[in-house]
Amino acid sequence: MPGIVFPKDFIWGCATASYQIEGAFDEDGKGESIWDRFSHTPGKILNGDNGDVACDHYHRYKEDIALMKEIGIQSYRYSISWPRIFPEGKGQYNEKGLDFYKRLTYELLKNGIKPSVTLYHWDLPQKLQDIGGWANRDVTDYFVEYAGLLFEKLGDVVPYWITQNEPWIVAFLGHMMGVHAPGIKDLKTALEVFHNILLSHGKAVGAYRQLNLPGKIGIAPNFSTKYPASDKKEDIEACELADGVLNKWFIYPVFKGTYPEDVVKFYRDRGAHFDFPPEDMKIIGADIDFLAINYYTSEFVKHHPVNGFVEINNELSQFEKTEMGWIIYPKGLYDLLLRLDNDCNKIDIIISENGAAFDDKIDENGNINDVKRMNYIKEHLIQAHKAIEEGVNLKGYYLWSLMDNFEWSFGYSKKFGIIHVNRENLKRTIKNSGYLYRDIIKNNGL
Ligand code: NOJ
Repeated sequence: MPGIVFPKDFIWGCATASYQIEGAFDEDGKGESIWDRFSHTPGKILNGDNGDVACDHYHRYKEDIALMKEIGIQSYRYSISWPRIFPEGKGQYNEKGLDFYKRLTYELLKNGIKPSVTLYHWDLPQKLQDIGGWANRDVTDYFVEYAGLLFEKLGDVVPYWITQNEPWIVAFLGHMMGVHAPGIKDLKTALEVFHNILLSHGKAVGAYRQLNLPGKIGIAPNFSTKYPASDKKEDIEACELADGVLNKWFIYPVFKGTYPEDVVKFYRDRGAHFDFPPEDMKIIGADIDFLAINYYTSEFVKHHPVNGFVEINNELSQFEKTEMGWIIYPKGLYDLLLRLDNDCNKIDIIISENGAAFDDKIDENGNINDVKRMNYIKEHLIQAHKAIEEGVNLKGYYLWSLMDNFEWSFGYSKKFGIIHVNRENLKRTIKNSGYLYRDIIKNNGL
């Protein structure tokens, strides 16, 4: 008898994204994406890796679905590559690209696995980047065209839609720090991109509502809980600012109809003068059916005289870290869930990503005993369950990731999968964490 039992209809899933697993980067009429361009630019990705082949999921999706079935996965979160559907970003759609997602979706349904489709997981058509990318407001309308086509073609059978994955990462890692595609380094552009991504989300939700489809729609921001590094007033204030920059910057526009004033001031003080048409805020605040959250880690924050705040996790030796250097802090998930329950009007929440990269070793029998990942999963589920007991409307949990894949600027060096993928021959092997997950699903708990 398991000790911790989840609610009856709790959904157990796993997640991936198109560019990270599909490969077939120029097949069947697919257009170039900003990640194709970025990864083909020397010096951008560790070891010169790229997603040209990735896990070759484009050709092996049936095998991958069979593995999901073996583990007992109830729902699969995958993303659609916009340039497969619209090679030019807009205009004429590519039947062959669409056909791949139809085959994938129907294969899932045939196996009793519920599709959860993310419309944008970072692979913007390069043609749209050529006209300014997300910094160009017109792109929000092209996104709605693209989303609308998918709603029309798959809306009757896909129960869960996620408009945008991690707007903050797209905006700031892609347009301020320049470490993600398209590799821009400009604060004002990052703020415009963030806003337009939220706008595209709101517009797509509006388009979805008009079609009266049977499914549900939401968005998947990344959050991490911020804690002050000490109880000094200046650290507590710095922590609030850090929370504002990441968490409130999403929660306020989507749930409260405005950007948080303190953070607006913080950016204005740094020379980023931005003004958005006030009517945008109504669109951005469109009612969603669920909030999907990606949670991996939390941060301890200290005052910094120039930057306002600084995150000091790398100085904290008392916490175990994953291969990403992220501290393992499961309680951060609990605190986050309670906070969102409170700030977002008791909305239904889905954990759309949670997982960890570790340096897995294959033993002489071909087994992968990834104990650290197993502990990570268990500890986070214990916290998630605690939050449910406190009344949080948590409806599902998706592990990141189904299989080892292309971890963006880190290439294939960071492995998040519960299935190992041999980089030489792409052979898949279920890790012990995969078998643990199978048991968790079977028992609906731990
Ligand atoms: C969030 C992103 O959505 C996903 O693409 C990435 O691989 C994981 N975090 C791990 O960094």
